[in-house]
Amino acid sequence: MRADLIVKNIGELVYFRDFNLETINGAAIAVKDGKIAAFGTENEVLESFEISNTTSIIDAENNAVIPAFVDPHTHLIYAGCRHEEFLAKLKGEEYLKLLKEGRGINYTVALTRRESKENLMKLTLKRLNQLKMTGTLTVEIKSGYGLDFENEKKMLEIANMLRKISDIDIVPTFLGAHAIPPEFSSNRASYINLIVNKMIPEFTHLAEFIDIFIDDGAFTVDEAREIFKQAESAGYKIKMHIDELSYTGAAKLATEFSIVSAEHMEYTPPEDLEILKERNVVAVLLPSTYFFMKSKRRPCIEAMRELKLPIALGTDHNPGTSPFYSQPLIMALAVFLYDMSVEEVLLATTLNAAKALNLENTKGNIGIGMDADFLILNAHSFVHLVYEVGSNLIGTIISKGKNISIHSN
Ligand code: NIG
Ligand code: FE
Repeated sequence: MRADLIVKNIGELVYFRDFNLETINGAAIAVKDGKIAAFGTENEVLESFEISNTTSIIDAENNAVIPAFVDPHTHLIYAGCRHEEFLAKLKGEEYLKLLKEGRGINYTVALTRRESKENLMKLTLKRLNQLKMTGTLTVEIKSGYGLDFENEKKMLEIANMLRKISDIDIVPTFLGAHAIPPEFSSNRASYINLIVNKMIPEFTHLAEFIDIFIDDGAFTVDEAREIFKQAESAGYKIKMHIDELSYTGAAKLATEFSIVSAEHMEYTPPEDLEILKERNVVAVLLPSTYFFMKSKRRPCIEAMRELKLPIALGTDHNPGTSPFYSQPLIMALAVFLYDMSVEEVLLATTLNAAKALNLENTKGNIGIGMDADFLILNAHSFVHLVYEVGSNLIGTIISKGKNISIHSN
């Protein structure tokens, strides 16, 4: 058989078999038509693939190769920044207080509404580049800084336009229920009505998922139920932000709807985790938000582990609570702050993150027939991603079989 690309001399090839991490030393990968055609020991792979003059060969120089990262939770499209708010929080201002006063999310909403589509595209492209440099090749992007029909549409259209031009695969999510916009502050029901009767039906071709921020200062479980009912019948897949700032009981919604992932979950108790496990929901944890907000409450990792609830990790990139891009940094935070193992955090930022986007058959792993999205590290073992916390060890970036590294020629 002929390959388009062969990566040889891999010191440690990391992949998942049945969601368990395995490694092969002295390995190679063969790629054909943008997919993984074979992987295994170098001898096995080289024996079954002929090298023609059209085959590219990359020598990994005994370094580690891992699946490219998937970031299952970001708010990547927005204008401006919130560094003033950051300084105020350092002096003791509370996020929830800002949110309730119409600052926080609604500050970014005001700036994002004013910004042109072209500028927002440019800003987001720069952010996508940051993701790429740290090894993320698939990203979920939520709307939620428009909060009216025109501006939510604008955000989702930007996500869809970027989908066409970026090397990174983008999964768009409609998060119209991120906050109650100021013009509806004394009439929540009308805003929910607008989401249910106008935005949901009109955005079906622009978003794959719907998400709701269910929490103190945001939306209630009853409001979420009304929105999910409409969204599920319109064909959206469902994610939900739950229990970040307080306990909401929103996990029970998983018994009424088919929910792909529940996100944040600092206050979700073990009984609710059982419900999520029964309904095959992925827990998406966001340790940079916990870190940046100096939260005191960490998710019940031990109970999640005991229940075998799949855990994914994301950056939650947003200007208020997590201006982070790097999944390797998220891995380190989860190890140091949540006591997760290095194996758990790699699974959580790759294959389980893909599962949180229903993409586990094509993304987040090195497996035959899967997209050839992988990274050659500047390190002999993936463990260095956590051990050398804060450095960028991403060497060569392969996206669907093409070398897209910044320094590639
Ligand atoms: O995931 N929780 C809700 N949304 C974001 C915060 C967005 C913002 O503060 O602008 C989050 O933390
Ligand atoms: Fe978020």
